[in-house]
Parts: sequence; structure tokens; C-alpha cells
Amino acid sequence: MGSEVTESAVAVAESGQGARVSIKAVPRHVAIIMDGNGRWAKRRFLPRIEGHRNGAKSVRMLVEECRRLGIRYLTLFAFSTENWRRPQDEVGGLMSLFVQHLESELELLLKNGIRLRAMGDTSRLPAAVREMLRRNEERTKDMTGMDLILAVSYGGRDELVQAARKMAVAAKAGQLDPASITEESFAQHLYLPDVPDPDLMIRTSDETRISNFLLWQLAYAEIVVSPVLWPDFSRDEFHRCLDVFAGRNRRFGLTQEQLQGA
Ligand code: IPE
Ligand code: IPE
Ligand code: MG
Repeated sequence: MGSEVTESAVAVAESGQGARVSIKAVPRHVAIIMDGNGRWAKRRFLPRIEGHRNGAKSVRMLVEECRRLGIRYLTLFAFSTENWRRPQDEVGGLMSLFVQHLESELELLLKNGIRLRAMGDTSRLPAAVREMLRRNEERTKDMTGMDLILAVSYGGRDELVQAARKMAVAAKAGQLDPASITEESFAQHLYLPDVPDPDLMIRTSDETRISNFLLWQLAYAEIVVSPVLWPDFSRDEFHRCLDVFAGRNRRFGLTQEQLQGA
């Protein structure tokens, strides 16, 4: 893929339920499990936190590249609900890095028309991180070029449980009829209901797990695994992943014949 993005003609298929399905070469929403920072550091006999520090450079490259390519949503898995169980010094170091980069990258977001949004159980975050997230969300809320979604203190199961809890409360109060719950109405109770599901999910460092990321939203995402450790993830490697995605045949449960006839 060169620097110019040409969206292939949009093929629209009509499923039995009338749901519209569109197939494009360029993903509208890319989600990334940024993995391999610790191994990157270990190979260099450095403390793990140096891996995280160097991973920030890949984030900057990726954000700028996605914006340039016209990718409308980028979700980055920065810290999982399970990551709270890591050694305290690593967790503390990561929290400091979040504050530092949220502070320094606000200008980059504003300059590029990027809206920052957080998803996750932010109540568990140190106040400094929470406040910096809130500040950047507030300052960038009118930006329409791209949504940069940071999954921090995020767990897919946690998200589903809090959605179920909200609905149970509404049902108990007599405001929700359990029989009326649909996939669409359920999805309205997830963290960011207006964001479309990811088309492409990339995981780096050769791991082939989902690790509790976007369990609901990844239902039909194309998964591409990159062997590169996150701090070494380059623009060329990102383009290679986009090429793999462009070559995939997304069928959404339909047959090839149905898709061709549409
Ligand atoms: C990903 O890198 C970053 C976070 C989970 C915060 P890791 O820290 O998981 O790196 P590895 O998997 O140990 O190499
Ligand atoms: C997933 O990576 C979480 C993030 C990248 C933030 P992990 O390194 O925590 O996942 P596992 O433990 O290998 O499954
Ligand atoms: Mg890891």
C-alpha cells in the first residue's frame, strides 16, 4: 500500500435480518493490543519500564499515521484490569508515564483534530491519571478528525458486567422490560455506545490471545498478529498489517455467493 489510500468500492450485503454490512479495504476502526514491551526491555537487559517508555514512541507514530490515512477510530489497549496485579513498581511507573504523555501530547491531539476518549474502570486509576484523562477529553471534545480511544483499567468482562448491572437496576425500578432487551439495546449500555465495532484488531509480539479486550465488540473483527514487539512497531509493519486486512474476505456469516450478488 502506498501513501495514498483508495477505498475500494463498498460492497453492501443485506442479511436475513436486514442488517447492512459494508466491506472496505481501509478499516474504519482499528484496535490494537500493544504487547511486548517487557520482552523488548529484557532483551536489552533493561528494566521493564524502559520497554513501556519506548512503547510510547510507537503510539505517537501510529496515532499520526492513522490520522493521515483517514482511519476514523483507533482504540489502544494500554492497561487491563488484570494488569493491576503486576508488581507495584511497574504499575506505578506505568501510571507516571500515562500522566506524562497525556500532559505532553495534548498539543499533538489538538493540532491533528483528534478527540481523546477513555474506556475502562477509571475509578481505580490514581487521581492524577483520572484528572489528566478528563482534562484531555474535555479539551478535545469538539475534534472530529479521529477518535483516539484509550482502554485503561479496561476489561471486556468488566464492561459486560457493568452493562448487565445497569440494566438490572433499570429493570428492578420498572423502567426496563427484560423481554425487550436486544443486542442493540444491550450494546447501548457498553462504555462507548456510539463507537462502531473494530474492523481490524492487531496484536503485537506474536501473541494470539484476546486477553479480555473488547469481548463484545470484536465479534467480527479481522485479527492480525504481528511478530514485532510493540516498541519496534513501525509504520512499515503497520502498513503490512493493513495489507493483510485488505486481502481478507469478510463474510459476516453470509455465503460468498450472497456477498457477490449484493
Ligand atoms: C504490554 O507489554 C504493555 C502492558 C501490558 C501494559 P507487556 O508489559 O505485557 O510486555 P511483555 O508481554 O511482558 O513482553
Ligand atoms: C494485554 O497484554 C493488555 C495490554 C496490552 C494492555 P498482557 O501482556 O497483559 O496480556 P497477557 O497477560 O499476555 O495475556
Ligand atoms: Mg504482555
